[in-house]
Amino acid sequence: MNLIQKAEQKAIYFFEHDATGHDWQHTKRVTDTAVFLAETEGADTELCRIAALLHDVADDKFHDQDGDGLNYVQRWLKENDCPEKMQKDILSIINTVSFKGGHNKTPESLEAEIVQDADRLDAIGAIGTARCFMFAGAFNEAMHDPDILPKTYGSSKAYREEKSTAVNHFYEKLLTIKETLHTPAARTIGEERHMFMKRFLETFLGEWEGTAFNKENSTPKG
Ligand code: ADP
Ligand code: NI
Repeated sequence: MNLIQKAEQKAIYFFEHDATGHDWQHTKRVTDTAVFLAETEGADTELCRIAALLHDVADDKFHDQDGDGLNYVQRWLKENDCPEKMQKDILSIINTVSFKGGHNKTPESLEAEIVQDADRLDAIGAIGTARCFMFAGAFNEAMHDPDILPKTYGSSKAYREEKSTAVNHFYEKLLTIKETLHTPAARTIGEERHMFMKRFLETFLGEWEGTAFNKENSTPKG
């Protein structure tokens, strides 16, 4: 098995039981998108592929302390004979991927921009919408509550720990993603997905507020 195949196995095994939107299929979609973006933007495809495969294995959410995730992946790369320069490049990409309530580090290379774009594209559109409701369900959050308003988070810790609702998450994160995408190819895809989410919210809130019902009632009778 080469390093890419081993990284794939590692991610499949690592996310076997995840129900919070970070399953292996998320990693697979991010990897496919990252490879597509790398080919379109003329970046190092293999580097993007392996960093995307390992990006969530390194996420601190899955480790005891901040920083443990990156060390864990570094150890894994060493044990699997990854050349030192490549180790450094992979870790530098992974270090800037996660959103962290807007408190993430800035990507330092085209490859880092691409993997961050690919991860963020998976948080928006129809799939992003589905992931958002799955996440809210897994963490006992309401899908919507008009009395709870969207907020900004003072730190990545607050973003991770404070409760919100699925609908608020659109205003707190998902609708802001389009503007944070780096590469032109990702921006084109992001535009479509953004429009879908806006249509979805309009319909959802319309149904919630009874707009459809009221409209029907106010139709003039012939
Ligand atoms: P990341 O920093 O890698 O985006 P998150 O855990 O914040 O990781 O996100 C995982 C998925 O769950 C994403 O699709 C994200 O938009 C969604 N998500 C994160 N926080 C919430 C939340 N409070 N309510 C609903 N969905 C959420
Ligand atoms: Ni991810």
